[in-house]
Amino acid sequence: MTDAISISNAQLRFGETAALDGVSLAIPQGTCFGIVGESGSGKTTLMRAVLGLQKLDQGEIRILGNPLVHSRAALKQRASFIQPIFQDPAASLSPRSRIRTLMNEVGTVLREPHAAMHERLRVILNRLGLPPGVIDKYPHEISGGQARRVAIARALLMKPSILIADEPTAGLDVSVQGDLLNLLQDIRRSDNITLVVISHNLAIVRLIAENAVVMRAGKVVEGGEVGSLFKSPREAYTRELLAAWPGVTQSKPTG
Ligand SMILES: Nc1ncnc2c1ncn2[C@@H]1O[C@H](COP(=O)(O)OP(=O)(O)OP(=O)(O)O)[C@@H](O)[C@H]1O
Ligand SMILES: [Mg+2]
Repeated sequence: MTDAISISNAQLRFGETAALDGVSLAIPQGTCFGIVGESGSGKTTLMRAVLGLQKLDQGEIRILGNPLVHSRAALKQRASFIQPIFQDPAASLSPRSRIRTLMNEVGTVLREPHAAMHERLRVILNRLGLPPGVIDKYPHEISGGQARRVAIARALLMKPSILIADEPTAGLDVSVQGDLLNLLQDIRRSDNITLVVISHNLAIVRLIAENAVVMRAGKVVEGGEVGSLFKSPREAYTRELLAAWPGVTQSKPTG
């Protein structure tokens, strides 16, 4: 089967900084893939490149087998099957519109009847622990954690086949973090979504991803199935990262 995302030798510099320094990886369809690494290792840059928001200096990215094209039309078309959850949720919300307007746009894009879309939205908001009334608020009237969940709701509402989430649990209460991870897993399984989770939290990646890569200074330093990757990392750097997240090497809960 064609990979959901395949990246070969991605290179991108910002002045002196090699944000991406020869990244290659392949993400099989329908799987959950983790990208971990310390701050500044290039995770968000890689995500922006995959979304076509950042051009590579060199290398190639294919989405479902098709090379990434940087036209406005291609960007718009891609939105229907690849959805981001940005590290900064404010980036997904427009300050001057009520959240309802943002959600209604999804119905327009999907050409879905208003009532059906709002029924799906009601279920998603409920699972994210958001009150239904949240859609009548403006972004500045909700908390940071709520804004993150609203951004996630909007991305899920689009029924993407690929979802890329950059630090999806940042700023959320621990109890809500668990609910969110379960929701993402449930939706991935029921809708056969490919889920890419970017996080500096190895515990989260260990919990939900099948495969992961470890990035450092724009390079993939190691990767593989999360069980073996985190149980017996080859790289000293991965061991350092693991040391910051005690308990990650314990076996995965089953069921
Ligand atoms: N627009 C930009 N202009 C200049 N430098 C940039 C830009 N975006 C990223 N960088 C640099 O590229 C490197 C990788 O940044 P990136 O945001 O991808 O890291 P990250 O792994 O997402 O970090 P974090 O965990 O803090 O989110 C960093 O050195 C950063 O300073
Ligand atoms: Mg980042």
